[in-house]
Amino acid sequence: MTAPFVLAVVSLKGGVGKSTTAVNLAVAAALDDRQSALMDLNWNQQTTTHWWNRRTTTPPHLVDLSAMSATDITTGLDVARANGCDYIVLDCPPDGGSVVEQAITCANFVLIPCPPSFIDVEAAAGTSQLTARVGRKGGFVVTKSRVQGRGEEAGRALASSYKLPVAPVVITELIIYQDSMAMGQGVLEYSGDAATTHKARKQISRLYDWINQRIAKKDALT
Ligand SMILES: Nc1ncnc2c1ncn2[C@@H]1O[C@H](COP(=O)(O)OP(=O)(O)OP(=O)(O)O)[C@@H](O)[C@H]1O
Ligand SMILES: [Mg+2]
Repeated sequence: MTAPFVLAVVSLKGGVGKSTTAVNLAVAAALDDRQSALMDLNWNQQTTTHWWNRRTTTPPHLVDLSAMSATDITTGLDVARANGCDYIVLDCPPDGGSVVEQAITCANFVLIPCPPSFIDVEAAAGTSQLTARVGRKGGFVVTKSRVQGRGEEAGRALASSYKLPVAPVVITELIIYQDSMAMGQGVLEYSGDAATTHKARKQISRLYDWINQRIAKKDALT
């Protein structure tokens, strides 16, 4: 049995778009014929668990650690692997505690969502350092960008400030990300108005492809 790919979506800062990004990437993987699964590690909010409960279709599957009375992520990964899951997305809480450190340790890739404001870019230092300390591959994606050009500008600031690559796609602030979450869907499944749907779908597809390319790359940790 081959080990599943584990993607940890991490930020020490709250509200940056971790859960929104995590569920959309898990849906992208499912539509790419992967047996994808989500593990909701934000036990206080359970955004991903609530989203999954609103769904009418699977995958992505949900790996419910509370149902297993488990606090150890590796238990959840073992269950997911035994059920044939090969793409597992860990939606982390907004801190750098032991659960997040464990998630990073289990991950093949650490994705750090970061909105384009100065204070968000500044706060990304802690997440970047934690990823480096644990020694995992990772990268940033600029999220919730409202003003045209600001996302790209923040991407350049992240690239020059930290030793991690930045996804060549900016996730913009679009109502479809919120509406699809409300319906228990990803933007690749949900249809809003044509122009926004197309825009959001392109963003998530490009992010999903970029992560696949990064993990295929045999480069050193950056
Ligand atoms: N691209 C986007 N466009 C519009 N709204 C967004 C986008 N991404 C996230 N949001 C909104 O921003 C808020 C925070 O998003 P989300 O819950 O995904 O962040 P989070 O990092 O998981 O938060 P927490 O740290 O509390 O777990 C939510 O209201 C969500 O709907
Ligand atoms: Mg969240």
